[in-house]
Amino acid sequence: MPTPRILVLYAHPAPHRSRINRRLADAARALDGVLVHDLYETYPDFFIDVAREQSLLAQAELVVFLHPIRWYSMPSLLKEWVDSVLQPGWAYGPGATALRGKGYWLAVTTGSPEDAYGPGERHGRPFEAFLPPFEQTALLCGMHWWPPHILHGANGAGDAAVEAHVATFRARLEAFLLTTPKETTDGA
Ligand SMILES: Cc1cc2nc3c(=O)[nH]c(=O)nc-3n(C[C@H](O)[C@H](O)[C@H](O)COP(=O)(O)O)c2cc1C
Repeated sequence: MPTPRILVLYAHPAPHRSRINRRLADAARALDGVLVHDLYETYPDFFIDVAREQSLLAQAELVVFLHPIRWYSMPSLLKEWVDSVLQPGWAYGPGATALRGKGYWLAVTTGSPEDAYGPGERHGRPFEAFLPPFEQTALLCGMHWWPPHILHGANGAGDAAVEAHVATFRARLEAFLLTTPKETTDGA
């Protein structure tokens, strides 16, 4: 199999109960050129193989974080992944070039509808106000921030909305795969 150009880091703490993210992961998995890396399946003990993860990252041109929003942020295993894998001198800081120029795409779902995110509403501020830690992490590593792919109100979303969301996700990945490959480092 050719080296996958897209690495999808799929992090769902309860995948058997997922309605949306599981569909998105399946759609990505069906595409040649995409590696869907299921973090909760791979690391049930949270003990992350840093060298392996860095090697996977180095090969990819586009890195996708695919997960449900948990407490306004990412699931805990993905946070552990970020803490362990994005090391100084490799991912960021003087001399770090491993991730420079790669794309970073956040694909997330929220349980609450979009209108629950705003001043005076349940979550107090727009959903975008919770995104800077994601964006700045990508920028610190020299990555290109793609506009996030978000489905709000995931638990109550109708079938048509889910279909459309999955189709848009797949189409964006396909469009990327049609672009000319960039050179990547072998990382490790
Ligand atoms: C522990 C926990 C924390 C959650 N935190 C949030 C949150 O901060 N904001 C929100 O809108 N939904 C929150 N949710 C709801 C999930 O984001 C939602 O169930 C999920 O996106 C649905 O996607 P799925 O069908 O793939 O599981 C939370 C759910 C759990 C279990």
